[in-house]
Amino acid sequence: DERELRAHFEETVAADRRVEPRDWMPEAYRATLVRQIAQHAHSEIIGMQPEGDWITRAPSLRRKAILWAKVQDEAGHGLYLYGAAETLGADRDDLTRRLLEGRQKYSSIFNYPAATFADVGVIGWLVDGAAICNQVPLCRSSYGPYARAMVRVCKEESFHQRQGYELLWTMARGTAAQREMVQDAVDRWWWPSLMMFGPPDAASPNSRRSMAWRIKRHSNDELRQRFVDMTVPQADRLGVTLPDPELRWNEERGHHDFGTPDFAELARVIGGDGPCNAERVARRTAAHEDGAWVREAAVAHAQRRARRTDD
Ligand code: ACO
Repeated sequence: DERELRAHFEETVAADRRVEPRDWMPEAYRATLVRQIAQHAHSEIIGMQPEGDWITRAPSLRRKAILWAKVQDEAGHGLYLYGAAETLGADRDDLTRRLLEGRQKYSSIFNYPAATFADVGVIGWLVDGAAICNQVPLCRSSYGPYARAMVRVCKEESFHQRQGYELLWTMARGTAAQREMVQDAVDRWWWPSLMMFGPPDAASPNSRRSMAWRIKRHSNDELRQRFVDMTVPQADRLGVTLPDPELRWNEERGHHDFGTPDFAELARVIGGDGPCNAERVARRTAAHEDGAWVREAAVAHAQRRARRTDD
């Protein structure tokens, strides 16, 4: 009966074992996972846009090959994640429709423009760095298919982060104009990167329950702090300044103190009113419509094969 099933579910989570697709789970647990995994998948797919714009304009064949591979990885991550959402009974067409109609979210970070080639480096270093910080703990998430998808995603994200840092390292040792481009990109991406971790804990409606279910293993503020601590020494090595006058090492806490991100801006960007929201969604919509014939052909092909095996 349901009481027994619920007890088994709670025991599984408490013992740090994984919940698998065929196991009984509370409806709210399922809904929370679909929400988070779908958003995550949408972020990977929309996230191809800011950097994808630079593939044709990369300054060398080497940079073009690296960037191309990286953007393709993001598509792959989106596909694993849609696959993980499908194990919960979600329908991929339905998730896509919800994204295009603005009923499901994607990460705020991808609503900012990638203005120069230095932005490609900074997206790798800071944005993928923040993504790793958030996603490494998700490898231990209580839902099996999500946790396992995260293992591969995180390995690829580490490569993305390294390529961004290496690009910036090269530019920082180039001309004065290149160094200025790097600093300008860092100035523009620093605060939005901190916002990726979500609202502060006191204003995060989902955190408490998601942490109790061990979907999330750390709170938004804990991960934000971890990211700042990890990034400051990397910025020093690179010779760039992080644009926060309040940033300093706090000996007593054993962490860096830092300023408060503009959470009103985060709310606006999540609400659809960021610098590139309209452009990102319009482009995703056009790509979906342009791809309709491929989906139709795939369905027709599958139906014909199924008929043939019926005979
Ligand atoms: N961008 C867009 N929406 C956000 C963001 C953000 N940076 N941060 C929080 N939100 C949304 C939440 O999704 C939630 O809305 P919802 O209830 O409609 O889903 C609302 O703001 C309140 O936030 P929380 O209660 O803190 O939500 P949650 O517990 O889900 O935590 C977080 C948000 C940390 C983003 C979590 O969902 C998560 O870890 N997701 C997986 C990682 C991910 O999606 N990364 C995508 C970007 S990285 C990349 O793709 C390279």
